[in-house]
Amino acid sequence: MKETVFLTGAGSGIGKAIAKRLSADGYYLVLVGRRLNKLQETATEINTPADCLELDLSQGSELLNAVNSWLQNHGENKVIGLVNNAGQFIRSPFGEDQNDWDPLFHVNLMGPVNMSRALWSHFQKNRDGRIVNISSNLGQTPVAGTSAYSSLKAALDNFTKCLALEGGAFNIRVNSVAPGLVDTPIHDFHQKDDTGSLQLKEALHGMHPLSRMGQAEDIAGAVSYFLNPSNSWTTGAILNVDGGLSLTSKDP
Ligand SMILES: NC(=O)c1ccc[n+]([C@@H]2O[C@H](COP(=O)([O-])OP(=O)(O)OC[C@H]3O[C@@H](n4cnc5c(N)ncnc54)[C@H](OP(=O)(O)O)[C@@H]3O)[C@@H](O)[C@H]2O)c1
Repeated sequence: MKETVFLTGAGSGIGKAIAKRLSADGYYLVLVGRRLNKLQETATEINTPADCLELDLSQGSELLNAVNSWLQNHGENKVIGLVNNAGQFIRSPFGEDQNDWDPLFHVNLMGPVNMSRALWSHFQKNRDGRIVNISSNLGQTPVAGTSAYSSLKAALDNFTKCLALEGGAFNIRVNSVAPGLVDTPIHDFHQKDDTGSLQLKEALHGMHPLSRMGQAEDIAGAVSYFLNPSNSWTTGAILNVDGGLSLTSKDP
C-alpha cells in the first residue's frame, strides 16, 4: 500500500520544494493547484509517480467532491498526510483592503479547513493522519498593511491547535510551519534584477539574524520532519522557520 500525501500549491515556490523533498522521502504525492501545467512540471521534476489534481481551493464543494472521488478511485493508496501549503499574499493599508479579505479567507483559511475536512474521516478510520499547515510568522507578529493576511494566518494557527486536540484520540497529528521571508514568486521582487530589486533583496537578507532570506527548501525540511513517523509525539506545534526574523522588531 502506497503511503500518500496530498500537497496543495505544489506548482511553485515552497510547494514545489516540498514535493521534491517528500518524493525523496518515499511518499506517493497528490499535487493540488489551479494551474495543471505547473503541477505537471512539478510531477516531471520529482521523477516519481504522482497525481495532479486541478482544483481551485476557494470552491469548497468542488474541493470536497474532487478529493472524495480521488479516494474512491484509489483504494489501493493509504493517505497518511496532508500539507496545506497553497496561499496568497496581498498587502494593502486598512481602509483600502476591502477586496483582500474574501479571496484570502477562502484560500488561506477555508482551503486548509476544507482539505482537512475532506480527509478527516479517512485519517480517523486508519488511525493515522499527519497534517502540516503552512502558516507565516506574520500570524504571530504582524506588520502594518497585512491585517487580512496576518489575521487569517493567526486563525490558521488556532485551527492547527484545535485539530491537534481533536485528532489526538485518532492518532492524527496536526502541526504548522511558520516561515519568515522566503524567496518565492509570491513576492513581486522575485526574479527581477533591476537595481531597485537587488537593493531590496540585499536589505531583506540583512534583516535576518542568519543574514539571509529563506529558500523554499528550508521550509520543505521542516514539513518532512513533521510527517516523519519518528516524530510521532509532536502535535499542535507552530514551528518558526525564519532565519531568526521573528526575534527582531524590523518590518519588512
Ligand atoms: N514566500 C514567503 O515569504 C512566505 C512567508 C510566509 C508564509 N508563506 C506561505 O507559504 C505558502 C506558499 O507560498 P509561496 O511563497 O510558495 O508562494 P507561491 O509560489 O505563490 O505559491 C502559492 C501556491 O498556492 C497556489 N494557490 C493560490 N491560490 C490558489 C487557489 N485558489 N487554489 C489552489 N491553489 C492556489 C498557487 O498555485 P496556482 O496559482 O496554480 O493555483 C501556488 O502554487 C503560502 O501559504 C504562503 O502564505 C510564504
